[in-house]
Amino acid sequence: MSFDRQIRIAPSILSADFANFGAEIRAIEDQGADWVHVDVMDGHFVPNLTFGPPAVKAFRPHVRSFMDVHLMIAPVDTHIEAYAEAGADMITAHVEAGPHPHRTLQAIRATGKKAGIAINPGTPAETVSCLLDLCDMVLVMTVNPGFGGQKFIHSQLDKIARLRAMIGDRPIHIQVDGGIDPVTAPLAARAGADVLVAGSAVFKGGSVERPEVYGANIRAIREAAEG
Ligand code: DX5
Ligand code: ZN
Repeated sequence: MSFDRQIRIAPSILSADFANFGAEIRAIEDQGADWVHVDVMDGHFVPNLTFGPPAVKAFRPHVRSFMDVHLMIAPVDTHIEAYAEAGADMITAHVEAGPHPHRTLQAIRATGKKAGIAINPGTPAETVSCLLDLCDMVLVMTVNPGFGGQKFIHSQLDKIARLRAMIGDRPIHIQVDGGIDPVTAPLAARAGADVLVAGSAVFKGGSVERPEVYGANIRAIREAAEG
């Protein structure tokens, strides 16, 4: 897969209908989603609990694009294999999830999947400076993780710009996650982000019966970011 920094929209299924994931995944992809962002939460690293490897395995046959699995879990190393087996295309772990993020990224790479490292709003960009040669993406949280529908934290924009400078021309995506909508998307893109996760801003007002609303929401975010 060749690398480029085109803007990619990755809807988070945390905001989807939890009783209808297969249809929801097909709908967002039909309506223009570039990736499918899967938020795994353990109720320990973050104050919410979502789904484990069996659910991710069930999503897999419905995903035609790219399944981007965001592990908000700690400890994380012991679970990497299971999410790789379940069919993740990208596995992103939090740098705060344990004492050995370098080894965590090695373990993700060893599964043959793309490797991402995520940093929370309170974690400086420099924290990942020794990890850049082991990852395909850095995920900058623009909300404190655990829930959809939160407000974008604008102080993270400087961090995104600093990260963009640190990365240089390495083939590493910068993903932003949390509070992304047509107003905040251009700020994040201008700072250097190229993969935009959006949950509530994509799913709001739509349904599998009215998927065209998803399409309009995705286009609004993409056009704002590219504008
Ligand atoms: C939050 C998750 C995000 C969240 C985004 O912990 O990692 O992916 O679902 O939801 P919105 O776009 O509604 O902020
Ligand atoms: Zn996420």
